Amino acid sequence: MLFGTRSNTTVGLDIGASSIKLVKMENHGGNYAIRAMGIRDLPVEAIVSEEIKDRDAVIFNIQSLVEQTDPKIKEVVLSISGHGVLTDKITIDKKSGAEAEQAILFEAEQRAPFDVEDVTMDYHIVNVDDELNKMDVLLVAARNEFLTSYLDVIQDAGLKPVLVDTDAFAILNSYEINYDIDPDRVTALVNIGYDVTNITFVKDGKYHSTRDVSAGARMIYDTIQREFRLNQELTAKAIRGEMESSIDQDMLKATIVSSVEEMMSGIEVAFSYFKSLAKVNTIDWIILSGGAALIPYLPEFIQSKLNVPIEIANPLRNIEYDPDMFSYIQPERIAPLLAVPIGLAARKVK
Ligand SMILES: Nc1ncnc2c1ncn2[C@@H]1O[C@H](COP(=O)(O)OP(=O)(O)OP(=O)(O)O)[C@@H](O)[C@H]1O
Ligand SMILES: [Mg+2]
Repeated sequence: MLFGTRSNTTVGLDIGASSIKLVKMENHGGNYAIRAMGIRDLPVEAIVSEEIKDRDAVIFNIQSLVEQTDPKIKEVVLSISGHGVLTDKITIDKKSGAEAEQAILFEAEQRAPFDVEDVTMDYHIVNVDDELNKMDVLLVAARNEFLTSYLDVIQDAGLKPVLVDTDAFAILNSYEINYDIDPDRVTALVNIGYDVTNITFVKDGKYHSTRDVSAGARMIYDTIQREFRLNQELTAKAIRGEMESSIDQDMLKATIVSSVEEMMSGIEVAFSYFKSLAKVNTIDWIILSGGAALIPYLPEFIQSKLNVPIEIANPLRNIEYDPDMFSYIQPERIAPLLAVPIGLAARKVK
């Protein structure tokens, strides 16, 4: 194109333990428009604690999702999270070029709780302080075995992974393109999935740090299934609040609340750690995304337990889309599920 705005189209593929989500998005100089999107449930045991247990099921569902959304899709941006990834921010003396790289890798080696040989590392210089002659560097290390297992299923599904991101950065990205960031409000972006809860802290209008908690909605699912003696299909309906007339709502609420203790204490630990690290007394608000934001009674419970106001994330807030693309589902009803894939699809891929 000679004249006119350049547009970039990127596809974000979010392989979650409970469902795979795909968003194809166009970027016209910072204006985003969704061109295709789809969600496909995975069998509950196909991925457990981010470990791919049933490769064939994952490959089949990725292929089917691409087929039903846009069969022409080839290149995708993917994300990883949980125990296979480590994100850290370090401060070192200001350096540039090869010298900087050497110093960063050296520092990373000192800190990593694993062998540098076993991980793939990436870094990004986020802040340079000329006065103090220091710079802040964001380090991301992914275990090779873990990373390869995801890259392999994507390739075996006939796709080409062009960029690897983390869920924590994807939710930040999605927040940044949809909200005006108030630098005075300390914000926790909390994405509760099936097996992992990703938390990204934003302070002074900028990324501060991130923590993944190894717990999510699976515990709720398992407890509802057991307590109400439901099959998988009905459990999924109950957790989506679609069985209001056939199950006792007080008992449902009590079951949900009692099954999130481990997750809640994980979040509480992450919050207090952040507060001491960032030297702040309060977290002003939580932006809640992930499927758990849609579970009845849960957001209210988290809000009262942590005593922090919650807003349910709307990653479609600033994005153009055709509501028909969502077929029978109302977009605003499932929007929080899309925080990660939208954040991925907003990445610029060269
Ligand atoms: N429409 C809905 N209403 C209520 N709850 C929902 C809805 N959709 C999903 N959930 C709940 O959220 C859970 C998982 O959400 P999500 O899709 O964010 O997890 P995931 O990304 O697959 O998992 P992970 O990120 O941990 O790998 C579902 O298993 C279900 O319990
Ligand atoms: Mg997820």
